[in-house]
Amino acid sequence: MDAAKPLVLGIESSCDETGMALYRTNEGLLGHVLHSQIDLHRAYGGVVPELASRDHVQRLTPLLQALLTQAGVTLADVDAVAFTQGPGLAPALLVGASFARTLAWSLEVPAVAVHHMEAHLLSPMLADPSLKPPFLALLVSGGHTQIYAVDGLGDYRLLGESLDDAAGEAFDKTAKMLGLPYPGGPHLAKLAESGQPEAFTFSRPMTDRPGFDFSFSGLKTQVLLAWQKSDGAEQTRADVARGFEEAVVDTLAIKCTRALDETGMNTLVVSGGVGANRRLRQRLQALADKRGVSLFFPPLEFCTDNGAMIALAGAVRLSFGQMVDERISVKPRWPMSDLPKPEVAA
Ligand code: KG4
Ligand code: ZN
Repeated sequence: MDAAKPLVLGIESSCDETGMALYRTNEGLLGHVLHSQIDLHRAYGGVVPELASRDHVQRLTPLLQALLTQAGVTLADVDAVAFTQGPGLAPALLVGASFARTLAWSLEVPAVAVHHMEAHLLSPMLADPSLKPPFLALLVSGGHTQIYAVDGLGDYRLLGESLDDAAGEAFDKTAKMLGLPYPGGPHLAKLAESGQPEAFTFSRPMTDRPGFDFSFSGLKTQVLLAWQKSDGAEQTRADVARGFEEAVVDTLAIKCTRALDETGMNTLVVSGGVGANRRLRQRLQALADKRGVSLFFPPLEFCTDNGAMIALAGAVRLSFGQMVDERISVKPRWPMSDLPKPEVAA
């Protein structure tokens, strides 16, 4: 192996997607495969952890075979196996961790434990390796809404986060209240396309006080009350969805503007599942253009969970000589502040 350019296999299994990818530093992605469990969980209206873990068990081996064929490499070419150690659903994480560590043992290569949110944070580099710290990062996923000042690779300062529901969770719960199927976020966003702007105006929570924290739980209740009091017509449902989406997008944009002002940073990175939201992308692009800020999103397919970002984050941590050990352990709850800082900032 070329020590500077190891071939890293990345494995994601923290929730309802089984993802796998091969990534080589300086060269980029050699291939990636993904299986989404949407069909499996739809009947239950949300993710059932035990069903998720059983499905991961069944998918991992065939996905690995498909990936190797796609990339035109063999297992003997793999220099390290990176996997999501947390945060996420414990039974689902355990499947990926056991598979990855066992594979790494058998290949006699290192296994690298990856923090799922660090992987989201770095994911725009999959498409654009020119992205370099310092930058501001807005992470908006199903479980997290956070703003970080990224002073270096692996060097993260949390500026603010959601105190209750994360943005994605608020999208999902609000979608459910409006009678939309799982997964709610993309369905709500699609419905909002046909909604009229400002037919419903909801509050922009916590924008009237200093700081960077978020609270989307009350917004969800406002939407429920508005929907219950309404005529229940199809157009009204779209109007309510539009009002909700605008409130979330506006709130995120206000906090990003404030963070750009206060940190003086001029690069903004947005990642995580809600980063796939078209209105959010447009709104932040307009903001960035106006301020002359460089804006980075991951490609759409890498906004939601995937193996490519795990392989990338694994390659970064491997280059620091960190997060490699032999145990099979998972961290369903894992603040990013617990990650080790690189000894020499990259
Ligand atoms: O990053 P992700 O795949 O998983 C977590 O790490 O949580 O994010 C999933 C979240 C879900 O809440 C989903 O509803 C939301 O991202 N999401 C969206 C859109 N696509 C996915 N929310 C709003 N608009 C979208 N287009
Ligand atoms: Zn995620």
